[in-house]
Amino acid sequence: MSRLVLVTGAAGFIGSNLCDALLDQGYAVRAADNLSAGEMSNLVQAQGRPGFEFHHVDVSDPDVCNRLCEGVSAVLHQAALSSVPASVADPARAHRDTATTTLHLLAACRTRGVSRFLLAASAACYSERAVQPLREDAEIWPLSPYAAAKVASEQYVKAFVGMGVDGACLRYFNVYGPRHSAKSSYANVIPAFTRRILDGGKLSVFGDGSQTRDFVHVRDVVRANLLALHTKTPLGGVSLNIATGRRTALNDLISAIEARCERKAAVDHLPDRPGDFKHSLADVATARKLLGFEAQVSLEDGIATVVDWMKSSA
Ligand SMILES: NC(=O)c1ccc[n+]([C@@H]2O[C@H](COP(=O)([O-])OP(=O)(O)OC[C@H]3O[C@@H](n4cnc5c(N)ncnc54)[C@H](O)[C@@H]3O)[C@@H](O)[C@H]2O)c1
Repeated sequence: MSRLVLVTGAAGFIGSNLCDALLDQGYAVRAADNLSAGEMSNLVQAQGRPGFEFHHVDVSDPDVCNRLCEGVSAVLHQAALSSVPASVADPARAHRDTATTTLHLLAACRTRGVSRFLLAASAACYSERAVQPLREDAEIWPLSPYAAAKVASEQYVKAFVGMGVDGACLRYFNVYGPRHSAKSSYANVIPAFTRRILDGGKLSVFGDGSQTRDFVHVRDVVRANLLALHTKTPLGGVSLNIATGRRTALNDLISAIEARCERKAAVDHLPDRPGDFKHSLADVATARKLLGFEAQVSLEDGIATVVDWMKSSA
């Protein structure tokens, strides 16, 4: 079997961490990104390593997908318009970069005989009304074009199983770690808060900070992908929560970042933001059962990797 793996969205936060880990494991990596959000600086470690090739392409083009899938044994599809607010601003683009890309890559996998497809799916698919901790069979109700495009992508993964492309939908929860950019105006909470605390700025928190999230380190997300890649058991299009199964309140997150930065931050409490979930916590039993996956990185250790990376890349 070929040891060549295609990673889309490879210049992004999660994609670039995946490329490094795959190369460490002896895989050849074909990396593809249109650089709409990703940065080549994320790939400096990968570039020049034996077996690594980078393609500056758009994977919403079926011909591009067909070329990229030639000779590969698996596709790890990370490319997407990864921001919820950006998807609200431009729903058609969210659909193209997230769902259309999935469809064309799956069709190319079928043509080229690629047997494994792993989708970067999202916890954003779950309904606000779903019972916590969230099991994979909880109610699905996308609240944004981003979430809708991820749900559509999952359905395509399932549909293509019957057409010879085995795969899984890895529903990442709140992923954090090195290379998670704080630059975008849509920056996620951990990089945004870490940057502000390091710069001595004020934090803006919606509500009283008691809202909770399931923060999972990128190293664990990478490990979940490798387990799903290696398993001999057919995955059958299954959806799996990739998370820690632990809840962290925003206030506790801020304390953990402050402790690592050795600096306190002033906090502005704003009114609750309509549409924000109060809590999001995964039930992780299915990934444990099917993949033997268990998150290993503690919040303290994970925050340390973010702070150290930000200090070193400043
Ligand atoms: N970061 C999280 O917390 C999280 C949570 C759930 C799911 N996800 C999913 O994981 C994946 C990776 O997320 P991330 O945080 O690394 O995001 P990211 O924005 O850093 O990476 C996405 C990459 O895809 C590229 N891209 C977008 N459209 C493309 C296209 N049409 N052709 C080629 N490349 C394209 C971007 O340039 C970017 O480099 C995404 O699918 C995202 O939706 C992320």
